[in-house]
Amino acid sequence: MAKETLTITDNRSGKTYEIPIEHGAIRATDLRQIRVSEDDFGLLSYDPAFMNTASCKSTITFIDGDKGILRYRGYPIEQLAERSTFLETAYLILHGELPTRPQLEEWVYHITHHTMIHEHIKKFMDGFHYDAHPMGILVGTVGALSTFYPDAKNILDPANRQYQIYRLIAKMPTLAAFAYRHSLGMPYAYPDNDLSYGGNFLNMLFKATELKYKPDPVLEKALDVLFILHVDHEQNCSANAMRSVGSSHVDPYSAVAAAATALYGPLHGGANAAVLRMLGEIGSKEKVPEFLKKVKAREALLMGFGHRVYKSYDPRAKIIRQTAEQVFSVTGRNPLLDIALELERIALEDDFFVKRRLYPNVDFYSGIIYQAMGFPVDIYPVLFAIGRTPGWLAQWQEMLLDPDQKIARPRQLYIGSGHRDYVPLEKRR
Ligand code: CMC
Repeated sequence: MAKETLTITDNRSGKTYEIPIEHGAIRATDLRQIRVSEDDFGLLSYDPAFMNTASCKSTITFIDGDKGILRYRGYPIEQLAERSTFLETAYLILHGELPTRPQLEEWVYHITHHTMIHEHIKKFMDGFHYDAHPMGILVGTVGALSTFYPDAKNILDPANRQYQIYRLIAKMPTLAAFAYRHSLGMPYAYPDNDLSYGGNFLNMLFKATELKYKPDPVLEKALDVLFILHVDHEQNCSANAMRSVGSSHVDPYSAVAAAATALYGPLHGGANAAVLRMLGEIGSKEKVPEFLKKVKAREALLMGFGHRVYKSYDPRAKIIRQTAEQVFSVTGRNPLLDIALELERIALEDDFFVKRRLYPNVDFYSGIIYQAMGFPVDIYPVLFAIGRTPGWLAQWQEMLLDPDQKIARPRQLYIGSGHRDYVPLEKRR
């Protein structure tokens, strides 16, 4: 049988090394023994943006980017979107198994009963400017929750971690909805424990003067599906931020604030809002070829297209396209859909996109649904953050329990000046 090792010959020294291969990878620290002199630090691998570096072993999410496969704990995303609920999927992602009925009931009970936020949080929410971006408010307030729960610092106690997990999953929609109401100058709507997770979120966003808010069941289900699709996506930018920041053993509220900050950027969770702006700027189906010319001339990016891992159709985008039809049966068709469909049709036949294997990603169609459901553009990354919170927490917990992990601390290749002496100001030219 072939040996699971890699033999490396260092042509600088002529020495040969045999390095074990495990799970299709070598340990980067095994390269350290490759030295040319006693004071040589040892060979490093150089991998900006982690293009070919596994930063952890994980049992949470599996992606096959070539085949367009996404599974949470082994379960295909298509089955979860069709048959599960967001809270059940959150349980699965955090615990590794689908819950039994009593486990699910207990889980839903705890999340439902932690949705309230301290009244003081409203006070500092009020301090934000009237047009503050809701994602900025969410990042600030979720980080500030750590000051309300100082016990959360006790991250090595499993029962304590479980408590903070309930709180974070439960309170994210409340913070998000309050941030949205603040931007409208509307009074905050409190959680309603009679409603589902998504239904209650719609209640906190859109309740006006009615005594009891009744969410539309089609929209409530669509939102639940969208949350499921966003639960986790293995080592993406924000999960990596969560693990990296969490590896300093900071409390989970601070780590989630860091992850949400990473998500805010237009290349990550901010892309769904950027897609909407792009579709608005294109304006009509007829102008699609002209816009794609600009993309090919590198004057614009086709937002919602391309992915570091998927080199075929993102399975989440397929499900969102189907969900869009159900939403439009209630809300009426969003005219931006026609522009998006035309963009997709032309791009998927165009050599530029075919050669680079650029396909629609999760953000391409999600914004169109959100807009039809009445969500303002600024809140799209906030919706992403709510859905992704269980995934961040699962990644955080797996990192904490993994004996291979330590505080994250990459190396660098220093290419700056060598030693030089300080020059007084009057002597500098
Ligand atoms: N429009 C036009 N060209 C693109 C696009 C795009 N959306 N995406 C990639 N390319 C080109 C890129 O210029 C490069 O061309 P070349 O090889 O000639 O230099 C080639 O395709 C490979 O792209 P890359 O930038 O090396 O790929 P990456 O893995 O570094 O970036 C990405 C992935 C998602 C950041 C990028 O595709 C992108 O900027 N897409 C638009 C933003 C977007 O939709 N982001 C959401 C990602 S999915 C959800 C999430 O993670 O939050």
